Amino acid sequence: MTDGPTFGFSDVELAQHPTVYRGDLFKGQTVAVSGGGSGIGKAIAWLFGRLGAHVVICGRNAEKLETAAAAMTAAGLAVEPIVCNIRNTDDVEAFFDKIYAGRGSLDVLINNAGGQYPQPAIDIKPKGFNAVIDTNLNGTWWMMQAAAKRWRDAARPGAIVNIVAVVDRGMPGVAHTCAARAAVVGLTRTVAIEWAPLNIRVNCVAPGAIESQGFVAYSDEAREAFKRSNPMMRVGDAFDVAEGCVYLASPSGKYITGDVLTIDGGGRHWGQFWAFPEPDYFKGSGR
Ligand code: ADE
Repeated sequence: MTDGPTFGFSDVELAQHPTVYRGDLFKGQTVAVSGGGSGIGKAIAWLFGRLGAHVVICGRNAEKLETAAAAMTAAGLAVEPIVCNIRNTDDVEAFFDKIYAGRGSLDVLINNAGGQYPQPAIDIKPKGFNAVIDTNLNGTWWMMQAAAKRWRDAARPGAIVNIVAVVDRGMPGVAHTCAARAAVVGLTRTVAIEWAPLNIRVNCVAPGAIESQGFVAYSDEAREAFKRSNPMMRVGDAFDVAEGCVYLASPSGKYITGDVLTIDGGGRHWGQFWAFPEPDYFKGSGR
């Protein structure tokens, strides 16, 4: 039996991929990454770890988390896996209890955990809709609120980055996740104002077509279409997203709150519709 194609970075690549950031940028800091055991979250965890942070990764699958953490530890990075279902408020409280018991503080929360499945909106069942909302909206919210309460109680600053999606023009095929992600953007804008006096910054990163392990779930045709979803005619990678998170979470983002950093190769501005005749240089390019 032959192995199928693999997508996204290997652990060796995550360890070696060049970064524009200084190696001690997060030295002494603690950074929590939900869904840090795979895909984009794993790349985010590696980058913060390589920049000196003690990284706490959470997810539901203990084995996946342990495997991801073992690879980071083997590369000399400081990482701690904690099993947590972000939908469950008791789990979320226990997650923060463990971080504070072990580290005494938290500096950055990256809300990356989430998931969805493609289905025409008209066919989505209540169970599926509720599940996607529960993880992507409610789970993200419980994590945001729990982090903010601890920062408020300790009178310490904090930064949150929520990984969302490019919701600006709707997301045909994944209506439930579009609803959840758009709601997270709304929450972000709202609490950015409410929590500014607490020195808590809250922002989003909206990735477009990013190659990661999740690509395996799509057909070759869909993967080709991802390349054509933006005028750069290619997909991005998980480090594009990870470096965006670092930008917002580090002092480079100190005057940014309530905003969305879109990392999609310009796809947000792209489409089949032309308000003027399609320029000759785009014709015949397969778009
Ligand atoms: N990743 C996907 N769903 C999750 C959940 N409910 N809790 C933590 N990580 C997740």
